[in-house]
Amino acid sequence: MTIDPRLSADAPASPLPENGLFLTDVWAGLGAARKTLPAKYFYDAAGSALFEQITVLPEYYPTRTELRILDERGPEIAAHLPEGAALVEFGSGSTVKLRRLLRHLPGLSAYVPVDVSAEFLHEQAEVLRADFPDLPIEPVAADFTRPFALPPRLSGRPLAGFFPGSTIGNFEPAEAARLLDGFGRILGEGATLIVGVDLVKDRDVLEAAYDDAAGVTAAFNLNLLHRINRELHGDIDLDSFHHRAVFNEAESRIEMHLVSRVAQTIHVAGRAFAFAEGESIHTENSCKYTIASFRALATRAGWSVLEAWTDADGLFSVHALRRS
Ligand code: SAH
Ligand code: AVI
Repeated sequence: MTIDPRLSADAPASPLPENGLFLTDVWAGLGAARKTLPAKYFYDAAGSALFEQITVLPEYYPTRTELRILDERGPEIAAHLPEGAALVEFGSGSTVKLRRLLRHLPGLSAYVPVDVSAEFLHEQAEVLRADFPDLPIEPVAADFTRPFALPPRLSGRPLAGFFPGSTIGNFEPAEAARLLDGFGRILGEGATLIVGVDLVKDRDVLEAAYDDAAGVTAAFNLNLLHRINRELHGDIDLDSFHHRAVFNEAESRIEMHLVSRVAQTIHVAGRAFAFAEGESIHTENSCKYTIASFRALATRAGWSVLEAWTDADGLFSVHALRRS
């Protein structure tokens, strides 16, 4: 791949058209007094593959716990979806959760996985098509925090939403409410939304889940810097940053950071950013709720609460909501 001369490290640059928003967000985030980067940029093809590795780590309880809830409560969850519905999954990833629900949804008329990780999305859609040849699958590569169009072929069908994985937790409560309201506008009056939400628990369990012994979550976090180097012609030395995950109890969220080991200046597309030793880039929040606090959020966002399910240890929850 040739590098656009506008992205040289020693000259001011304008962004490549396809990376324009990424560059704008990186420049804004690294230029802020408290450095931050949007978590959605974790998910290039390498980031999606690393996330899949995270989901099977012994410390990362959310995926296996939610899968168990979907297995055990599948018929009850499916009963909230109308016959003939087209199911829109926001942040579909590997579609593993949808596969568990599908056995309880024989009347599903289409599946619409929406994901920002375009390459991974299309690969997963192909695999799903091979496994379920009779199910129309209409992938949409989009950032679900911004306006996007559903495939016109869906018009006239009842829509339902699926938002598993506690991806909702990656948004601060005010943003999460805006997102849920936006999903309601897309799905329409009377639609059902099934949402997976991680629950508050002991600090030790939470911090281990986001700082595993094998270092996969660290690699997932550091991949963001690798992506900046690759796509935005950055010059960041990955060894000069380390991963940190900490439970911020006051905000009820895990925070992930990339901490500079040394005082240094990095460059991204010709712009310099200085770091003090120990200064961090805040890369992700993973907010943790109680059943009641999530219900209050959903209600504020224009949804009524239908039902919620949890596992025997109260680690994770799945909620059925109706757009009111
Ligand atoms: N639903 C899957 C994957 C969860 S990981 C599961 O439960 O296992 C979060 C997924 O959301 C990733 O696939 C990521 O690419 C996607 N994602 C994150 N932010 C997004 C955004 N703003 N718009 C669209 N997809 C997003
Ligand atoms: C996708 N999202 C819900 C994951 C989480 O648990 O917040 C992303 C993740 N970050 C580190 N590990 C997993």
